[in-house]
Amino acid sequence: MITKYTYGNPFDTEAIMTPIPATGGAPVHGSVSLEGGFTFSYTMAAHDVVYGLGEAIRGINKRGHRYVSNCSDVPDHVEDLPSLYGAHNFLIVDGRETFGLFFDYPAAITFDVGHSLQDELTVSCEEADLDLYVIEGESAYDIVRQFRKIIGRSYIPPKFAFGFGQSRWGYTTAEDFKNVVKQYRENHIPMDLLYMDIDYMEGYKDFTVNEKNFPDFKAFVDEMKAQDIHLVPIIDAGVKIEEGYDVYEEGVKNNYFCKREDGSDFAAAVWPGRTHFPDMLNKDAREWFGSKYEILVSQGIDAFWNDMNEPAIFYSDEGLAEYKEFLQKYMDDKDGQIPFFAVQYLPKMLSNSPKDYERFYHNVNGKMVRHDKVHNLFGYNMTRAAGEAFEKISPDKRILMFSRSSYIGMHRYGGIWTGDNKSWWSHLLMNLKMMPSLNMCGFLYSGADLGGFGADTTRDLLLRWLALGIFTPLMRNHAAIRTREQEFYQFENVEDFRHVVGVRYRLIPYLYSEFMKAALNDDMYFKPLAFDYPGDEMAREVEDQLMLGNEIMIAPVYTQNASGRYVYLPEEMKFVKFMPDGSIYEETLPQGSHYVKIALNEVSMFIRKGKCVPVVDVAESVDKIDMDTLKYIGYEGATYDLYEDDGISRI
Ligand code: GLC
Repeated sequence: MITKYTYGNPFDTEAIMTPIPATGGAPVHGSVSLEGGFTFSYTMAAHDVVYGLGEAIRGINKRGHRYVSNCSDVPDHVEDLPSLYGAHNFLIVDGRETFGLFFDYPAAITFDVGHSLQDELTVSCEEADLDLYVIEGESAYDIVRQFRKIIGRSYIPPKFAFGFGQSRWGYTTAEDFKNVVKQYRENHIPMDLLYMDIDYMEGYKDFTVNEKNFPDFKAFVDEMKAQDIHLVPIIDAGVKIEEGYDVYEEGVKNNYFCKREDGSDFAAAVWPGRTHFPDMLNKDAREWFGSKYEILVSQGIDAFWNDMNEPAIFYSDEGLAEYKEFLQKYMDDKDGQIPFFAVQYLPKMLSNSPKDYERFYHNVNGKMVRHDKVHNLFGYNMTRAAGEAFEKISPDKRILMFSRSSYIGMHRYGGIWTGDNKSWWSHLLMNLKMMPSLNMCGFLYSGADLGGFGADTTRDLLLRWLALGIFTPLMRNHAAIRTREQEFYQFENVEDFRHVVGVRYRLIPYLYSEFMKAALNDDMYFKPLAFDYPGDEMAREVEDQLMLGNEIMIAPVYTQNASGRYVYLPEEMKFVKFMPDGSIYEETLPQGSHYVKIALNEVSMFIRKGKCVPVVDVAESVDKIDMDTLKYIGYEGATYDLYEDDGISRI
């Protein structure tokens, strides 16, 4: 049962696909105040759990923190960070009363989930122009499924996107890329995707390829394809300002860029230097930007990642001028010196400054809308531009697409990766906790930068992180420039990596089958334990294990120097370990808590009572998986309904 309440004049975000007529009066749960903006309040019972909010830090249970949906380019995912790259305004209160809430509002909105007052849930935003959906159901899981039905089916990638992908910011020439593939193939570490970060471009200009580094790009793409490698170029939101660059010139000519109040094109510096932002909220501009992906698709590219689309701003023309003035004034006042606090504060004035988001406008059906009022829709609509274009450019075949920034609704056009994490053990655990919350909001094809993006990884962290990553639909090793090189062949005993990645490929028929069932039925791929064991009080508090599909539970090791971990089994299960010699260890464990040993080079999972899981032999690419080697592990006599398709045709 879903009830919609409309306040003021909401902006149509197009997040919801099933129209629901609005009801008047007070919401069925909680209360709303329209004084000085919008505030929703609800008093939680002591043991209520709050689920949801998609991409956000902290736990599966969101209680005890304050989150702000305000798409942000943030490199330090510390524990008290209020905002990440996405805005996923869906949450569920589960306990004394069980209900879901979706706040369809495109600007910044704050979720105080027992932060100011332990039992108070307060959701507030500046303007009382929004749609609030209250969803009632039998359980939190049932509420998720109802919500997922009204937001439309999740994006379905091609099957090759379930292969492993290597990435690093800094690969520049065709030789750099070829060398990575050579090392993977020579070491027999399975691989399907090779990511091209910003350096493949000419001067960081979208839809260009550096001709010096790639004299024959199409031939290079074909050469990679011949080795079962799909290249995944990055596309950034900002279009470089440069005379003679066709994308820039067309955008200016047709008024496709975001404008200042005076009608001039707004300029912000990102990787290419000064850029203009395509007006992703303008239908024509969106269609135009989307059509540009064809430049690369026509050269054989069938996969992309969209980045910097919060949109990230290093500085704007106006911001830089203000900064210089401020700095000068400071120095004049202090005899030419800059005090420590100013050194700390001044750069923050420049990047991703809220003031800059008030400096440009979108043309939405002829109406100028100031960016900050619709800020959280930018990345969503960039990816929608691509997704809608792909339906024309590639009507028969699926194209891989995922984005950094997102809003609910974008899940129909692409997946997401969770941005610039660090090589920290805590971020391995955060990766795990985020996954079910993302699934609640429709983002099924998702994953984190395995091994950590920022900071220097270690061999053990990478191996442990991979043992989680082999279960996430997006499985990518990505790292920042100037960090320790973390391709698997950079480490000693490369056979351990070969084995762990190999387990991913042994499980792809199962993982793909469960992913497809989740996508086609508006269901979840990753669930909190409590969703499958609703009456179990212990399961309700588990924050470091997940249910995957209908057959398995995962419980990766996420602490350093550990030879195993404690795990809670809500029922009897088979403890399975993929051993380095290729054998599969199975042991039946009774319901309850156990300490299980898991070595660095083993991959573990648990099969639910009475169920079985298909496995195949290791293959070095998704295409080479031999279904004739398929066998089942787990409970004898169990049956499994394997979903299969050609992995590429649109569904
Ligand atoms: C951003 C992205 C990161 C990428 C870098 C350079 O920080 O999040 O993945 O490597 O930009 O393009």
